[in-house]
Amino acid sequence: MSVAGRRVVAVGVVAVVLGGAAFVGRSRLAGIRTSLRTSSSPGVRAYELLFGGPLGRYYAGIAADCAGMLAGSPAPSILEVGPGPGHLAVRLLTAIPDARWTGLDIDPAMIAAAHARLDRAGLAERSTCVEGDVSALPFGDASFDLVVTSFSAHHWPDAAVGFAEVARVLRPGGTILAYDLPAWWARIERGSDGLRAGLGPFPNAVVARRHGIGPVTIVERLAATRG
Ligand SMILES: C[S@@+](CC[C@H](N)C(=O)[O-])C[C@H]1O[C@@H](n2cnc3c(N)ncnc32)[C@H](O)[C@@H]1O
Repeated sequence: MSVAGRRVVAVGVVAVVLGGAAFVGRSRLAGIRTSLRTSSSPGVRAYELLFGGPLGRYYAGIAADCAGMLAGSPAPSILEVGPGPGHLAVRLLTAIPDARWTGLDIDPAMIAAAHARLDRAGLAERSTCVEGDVSALPFGDASFDLVVTSFSAHHWPDAAVGFAEVARVLRPGGTILAYDLPAWWARIERGSDGLRAGLGPFPNAVVARRHGIGPVTIVERLAATRG
């Protein structure tokens, strides 16, 4: 992650910690959840401004991770859940020149931004992005070689259902790579297990720290294959 990206993340973490310390009692915590819900998933314009540029190296790292997992798979099909405005999609299709990318996002404005970005990059022919909810993926069983998702799982209304859907659309032996804020964030924001909700459908999953600042983990990575 770039220095600017780290600064944005550090400011966010400090704001959350200070905000948490300032409030006591359950009714106050409900307020924190509400404000986190809006602050960690801003609209497409704010998202581009705050995260798109600063996270360039972060997305490049994920693309390299996916390329490594898919080495030896000809013309792999990739599903990205919650791609937002498509920063990772461009890097994925550039890193894996014979891949086909499908995005699924719940926000039509994000989908429009992703289409525009892929178009500008000359990657429209190998990509498509559809509107939908991870809880009911509009794809057949065993449709994809790899499913990737970044900073989205902590928004899913029921992450266990979302990961079960991901397992369903992965071909046997296919890979899931999921990157997200740590479990404590998902618990505050959604009362959910975040990435750890993937441990049910993917018993062989490994969740490990991916990025951090000193002892504070900022991003975790879940990696697993479908049995
Ligand atoms: C914080 S943004 C992350 C965007 C991008 N993946 C990234 O790493 O920059 C979260 C994205 O997940 C999408 N999302 C949230 N809940 C979703 C759901 N239930 N199903 C599909 N997409 C969802 C949002 O619309 C948004 O585009």
